[in-house]
Amino acid sequence: MAKSKKSWEKRLSGEPDKLMVDFVESLSVDKRLYKYDIVGSIAHAQMLAEQKLITKSELKAIREGLIEIGEKIAKGQFKFDKKLEDIHMAIESALISKIGQAGEKLHAGRSRNDQVATDIRLWMRDEIEILQAKITLLQKAFTKLAAKHSSDIMPGYTHLQRAQPIVIAAYLLSFVEQFERDFNRLKNCEALLNTSPLGSGAIAGSTLPIDRKSTARQLGFSDISYNSIDAVSDRDFCAEFIFDCALTATHLARLAEDWILYCSNEFGFVQIDDSFCTSSSMMPQKRNPDVLELIRAKTGSVYGSLMAMLTILKGQPSGYNRDLQEDKVHIFTAADTVEACLDMAQTIVSHTKFNTKKISSALEDGFTDATALAEYLTGKGVAFRRAHGIVGSLVAKCEKQNKKLAELTLKEFKKHSASINKDVYECLGAKNVVSKYVTEGAAGPKQAKKQITYWTNELAQR
Ligand code: ARG
Repeated sequence: MAKSKKSWEKRLSGEPDKLMVDFVESLSVDKRLYKYDIVGSIAHAQMLAEQKLITKSELKAIREGLIEIGEKIAKGQFKFDKKLEDIHMAIESALISKIGQAGEKLHAGRSRNDQVATDIRLWMRDEIEILQAKITLLQKAFTKLAAKHSSDIMPGYTHLQRAQPIVIAAYLLSFVEQFERDFNRLKNCEALLNTSPLGSGAIAGSTLPIDRKSTARQLGFSDISYNSIDAVSDRDFCAEFIFDCALTATHLARLAEDWILYCSNEFGFVQIDDSFCTSSSMMPQKRNPDVLELIRAKTGSVYGSLMAMLTILKGQPSGYNRDLQEDKVHIFTAADTVEACLDMAQTIVSHTKFNTKKISSALEDGFTDATALAEYLTGKGVAFRRAHGIVGSLVAKCEKQNKKLAELTLKEFKKHSASINKDVYECLGAKNVVSKYVTEGAAGPKQAKKQITYWTNELAQR
C-alpha cells in the first residue's frame, strides 16, 4: 500500500488522479469551517466517552489535540493538504498524526455526511447573528438620519412621478421596516435550522449506542432531527439562508438605486460624502456614486448563488450526494457579499445629507396636493369619484395657466364646485398636506415622530 494513501480509501487501488484531486477537493473553500468542525468533534468525543466507546484519557487526548490543531489553523501555521479533500479529513488526519490510536477512534458512529451537515448549521447560526447585528446598525443609521428630518418634506413618488408629499423621515423609515423583515426572516431561518443532524451517520444512523441528544445539547441545538436520511441530505436551510440574503441585497439595491438618482443634478436631493464618491479619469467635474452602483450590482451575485443552490438540490436522488459539497461556495458568497454591502450602506447612510433647500425649492411642482384636495371635497360630502374628476379639471386648468392649485382664487374654485370654501387653502401646499395625514402609518410628521421614538427604543435594546 502506498504511504500517501488515505486511511479511508483502502478500497481503492493506486493513487488518485492529480486532476481529480483538484476537482474533488473542497478544502480551499470549507477550511473556514474549521472552528465548527473542531467544536463538533469535541462534542462527539465527549459523547463517545459518556457512552464508554472511548476512555476518559482518550477523550482528553482528543480534546487537547483538536484544540491545538485549531490554534495552529488560527495562527496560519497549519499545512493544508488538498489530497485530504476537505476540512473534516484534514483535521482528523492531523489528529491521528498527533495523538495516534485515540485519534482513530473519533469517527465512530459518524460520517462526513452528518459531520458537514452539523458544521454548516453551526457556522450559519453565527453568521446569522453577524448579519443581524449589521442590519441593526444600518437601521440605527436610518433612524438617526430620520430624526434630523422628521418635519422636512420631499415629494413621494409612484411610477417615479410625483405623487403625494411625504416627510423625509417617513421615506427613510421605510427602509427600517424592510430591514426589520430581513432581520426576522433570518431569525426564522435560524429557528428552522437549529436541529442537530449529528449521529445520523452516512444515511441510516448507527448500530453503536450514539447519544444524539448529548451532542445536540452540547452544541446548543434546540432539538435533534428525527430522520437520518433527511438529516444528511437536507440543505433547505442553505437555500433559505441565501434567499434571505438575496432579499436583503434587493432592499440594499433599491436604496442604492434611489440614491443614485437622488444625488444626480436632476434631483439633487442628497449629498453623499466625498469620501464615498469617485471621480472620472477624463471628466474633471465628475462626482460618481460608484459605491452605490456596486451595491446594486452585487445583488446579482447573491441571486446567482440562490439559483445555483436551488439547482444543486433539484436533481439529486435521496440521501447524501457529493453535489451537496457545492453548497458552501454559495452560502459563503451570499453571506460575504451581503455583509460587505451592509457595512458600506451603513457608512453611506451615516455620511449622507439631505439637501432640504433644493428639495423645497421645487416642492410645489407636480400638484402633489391634488389628492388632498379630492379628499377635502370628499370630506364636504362630494362622492370621491366626482371629487377626483373636479380636481382633475382644476389641475388641467392650472397646467394651462402655469399655476399651482393654491394660486387659484376662491371664485375659480367655486366655478368647479360649490362645495369648496375658504378653508380649502388649509389643505393645499405640501406642508399643509403632510400635516393633515391622519391614518396610522401615514407619511406625515406626527406618524414619523412616533415611529422614530419606537425604533430608537427598539433598536437600542438589540
Ligand atoms: N466535503 C464534503 C461536503 O462538503 C463532505 C462530505 C463528503 N462525504 C462523502 N461521503 N464523500 O459535502
